Amino acid sequence: MKIGTPLSKTATKVMLLGCGELGKEVIIALQRLGIEVIGVDRYKNAPGHQVAHRAYVIDMTDAAALKTLIEKEKPDLVVPEIEAIATDMLAEIEAEKIAIIIPTARATQLTMNREGIRCLAAETLNIATSKYAFAESLNELKAAIDNGIGFPCIVKPVMSSSGKGQSTINNADDIQVAWDYAISGARVATTRIIVEEKINFDYEITLLTVRTLDANGEVNTYFCEPIGHIQQQGDYVESWQPQQMHTATLEKAQHIAKTVTNNLGGRGLFGVELFIKGDEVYFSEVSPRPHDTGMVTMITQYQNEFELHARAILGLPVSTALHTAGASAVIYGGMDKTGIEFANIEKALAVPQTDIRLFGKPEAFIKRRMGVTLAYADSTNAARGRAKKAARLVKPQDG
Ligand SMILES: Nc1ncnc2c1ncn2[C@@H]1O[C@H](COP(=O)(O)OP(=O)(O)OP(=O)(O)O)[C@@H](O)[C@H]1O
Ligand SMILES: [Mg+2]
Repeated sequence: MKIGTPLSKTATKVMLLGCGELGKEVIIALQRLGIEVIGVDRYKNAPGHQVAHRAYVIDMTDAAALKTLIEKEKPDLVVPEIEAIATDMLAEIEAEKIAIIIPTARATQLTMNREGIRCLAAETLNIATSKYAFAESLNELKAAIDNGIGFPCIVKPVMSSSGKGQSTINNADDIQVAWDYAISGARVATTRIIVEEKINFDYEITLLTVRTLDANGEVNTYFCEPIGHIQQQGDYVESWQPQQMHTATLEKAQHIAKTVTNNLGGRGLFGVELFIKGDEVYFSEVSPRPHDTGMVTMITQYQNEFELHARAILGLPVSTALHTAGASAVIYGGMDKTGIEFANIEKALAVPQTDIRLFGKPEAFIKRRMGVTLAYADSTNAARGRAKKAARLVKPQDG
């Protein structure tokens, strides 16, 4: 594998589609390897734009605009960081060998819609999932619940992320509200939703799974230690690593992760989301890219998930070894405002063994993730305490 000189005719070029906090860290990892990076997002001054060689603002669901930009920049690799992309165009780009799509165009198509990845896992690969059904009207939703999904259940638009449009139905009185909420929260104008049996899990994990080339030039699969996390309204607020698991349960989880990622193919890091109940493991979904709960690896691993992704997409060797137990906690905007300030950073970082990432998002929302604190300790519990304490000390202010 050769890497050229950025901004010269030998440059190895990577285009990030999506420049949020996760894309920003992937870009930093690529920059360190001497890659020329082009950052694309739907709004100006996105976090990743601030660290890329060049920045573009386009609507990535606009297939023509996306193709024009890829043809203009001629990246070697195109790396989607978000789901809302004209993935059919990515398939064309891949078929015409204009650029390599990470991990594969098909993986981006299957995972942008909950229906694609759920049917693949449950029906083609025979992996255990919650019971599920799809519906396109309130009556279809009611029928699906009556015909086997039951209460409690969870409704989500088929195309949404970060918990948008997602809610729990505990009894018949909740159905209308959940339906209305799902329709309002979808990323695209569709009335299709998935309704899932609510799994009363003991805990949930993200199993970061890396596909890259081994010493023989063959694709091999590597696993990070499992990451435990807590979600509120479908959005992660806290994560830690390693999540303690029985060996047999972990092996089941790894088997599921390997089966799914083998099928999706290509190279890169994947975040496989799993629910654990007793010794049962249920597949929930997978991100074919770094995962928000995996930000904890910025303090726990020798190579964090962004560095692993950068190496894997280039086909380079990786180490998924854990360095220390650690945790992350989310810092929200707390207000709807542009150009806010974060006070008390010195107090937060005075909590021992902590660090912070402020993403540099131009605009804050009350529930927008603006940063995370990171902590390490001898145990994940101690690290969680430190990360949360530090996050609480940071005070977003109206500048
Ligand atoms: N069937 C289920 N049973 C129990 N809990 C669930 C179920 N589906 C979702 N959840 C809870 O809601 C969280 C978010 O769900 P999911 O990952 O499907 O949403 P999302 O919008 O894709 O979120 P993200 O983009 O942050 O991954 C899960 O991590 C889990 O805590
Ligand atoms: Mg999820």
